[in-house]
Amino acid sequence: MDKLSIDGGFRLEGQIRISGAKNSALPILAGSLLTAEPVIISNAPHLHDVTTMIELLACLGVGVSLDERMNVEISAHHLNDLCAPYSLVKTMRASFLVLGPMLARYGEAEVSLPGGCAIGSRPVDQHLKGLECMGAEIEVSDGYVRARAPKGLVGNDIYMDVVTVGGTENLMMAATLAKGVTKIHNAACEPEIIDLGEFLRTLGAKVTGHGSPTITIEGVEKLHGGSYRVMPDRVEAGTYLIAAAVTAGKIRLRDVEPDTLGAVLDKLVQAGADIEVGEDWISLDMHGKRPKAVDIETAPYPGFPTDMQAQFMALNVVAEGTSTIHEKIFENRFMHVHEMNRLGANIELHGVSMAVVHGVEKLRAAPVMATDLRASSSLVLAALAAEGTTVIDRIYHIDRGYETIEEKLQQLGAQVRRVS
Ligand code: UD1
Repeated sequence: MDKLSIDGGFRLEGQIRISGAKNSALPILAGSLLTAEPVIISNAPHLHDVTTMIELLACLGVGVSLDERMNVEISAHHLNDLCAPYSLVKTMRASFLVLGPMLARYGEAEVSLPGGCAIGSRPVDQHLKGLECMGAEIEVSDGYVRARAPKGLVGNDIYMDVVTVGGTENLMMAATLAKGVTKIHNAACEPEIIDLGEFLRTLGAKVTGHGSPTITIEGVEKLHGGSYRVMPDRVEAGTYLIAAAVTAGKIRLRDVEPDTLGAVLDKLVQAGADIEVGEDWISLDMHGKRPKAVDIETAPYPGFPTDMQAQFMALNVVAEGTSTIHEKIFENRFMHVHEMNRLGANIELHGVSMAVVHGVEKLRAAPVMATDLRASSSLVLAALAAEGTTVIDRIYHIDRGYETIEEKLQQLGAQVRRVS
């Protein structure tokens, strides 16, 4: 099993390019099931999760080809299977996003329940409730969701009980081919929802209000093909900004959308970073200083993203002062805490959703283990700041979300090696 070996304590300095967003590429790839015509997706990141989604599409009978620049051409002209099996859904929860498109286009679909995952139970009740609201008959048995709408889905007003990104995406896609108008109320407003909405519009869908809490979709009979470029990954961008912040460094990111990082940039400024932004770039300079502790409370967009919580904990661990971190989206997203304490951090857990972090001047290397995607990246950040050589085990988690992480870190002057 691959590990990352990091010699910490070096100031990071330089410039890197940010890849396409994983959380945008996955729903967009699933959305290409909505049309029989070819769809070309560019700027998809080269990541395990993207490969899993491509494998799932291929398993359903979709023609998928990739060129050397990772442009993905998809032709869902004919599907030979309407079942997404457990073997693929269990490895990646976003596989559940094929349910809405398949049901909308074919009137039936069978998708394995994703089950729990390391960061919490993560139910899909809102996805199913919304589809039922559009007239689908849903049966859940033997670990599978079997959905049918033989006469097609029918638009309706859907009120989401909780703000869910995946739920909003599944329902948006399903509604594009429903009869009549669907309004999704209390919808997620994440930038990836806007990206999906724009992609669907490229295919001829009538979607408005995406990015606001009420999304309106007027169903059309069919969608056509098209080309779409996936937005930049805001979580990857935020992670590298923190890599510079925890090493008192200086960094410039290219190919980013600064507007999608508002809450994160605000916290970095509070932490003492000098930030400048342009249309598609962000620079951060710590002027050689240690960061200041910042309080964090996660919330749906435009609040502070849960996907950046672990990385900010890494910042607070080496910051000047004491901070609180309150995780309000997922119930079990503090698995990095014990590993960080092994590196000499001083973090107290108060229940399952609150942590108090007392910043320390120095971390010291120790063997640690990655437990989920964002927890892994926070350990990389802590290791960059620690004195000595930290070896992070189970690094496959990080390959799900960070394209060529060691190359990008090396470009910034970090001493990082992949070892087996
Ligand atoms: C997506 C992101 C993930 C991010 C999360 C929250 C992708 C591929 N993944 O995950 O990186 O951390 O948004 O920003 O885009 N919930 C329900 N019922 C449902 C659905 C969700 O109660 O039917 C709850 C979840 O348990 C969780 C909260 O809603 O507490 C938010 O989850 P959700 O937004 O759905 O996360 P994902 O779409 O799975």
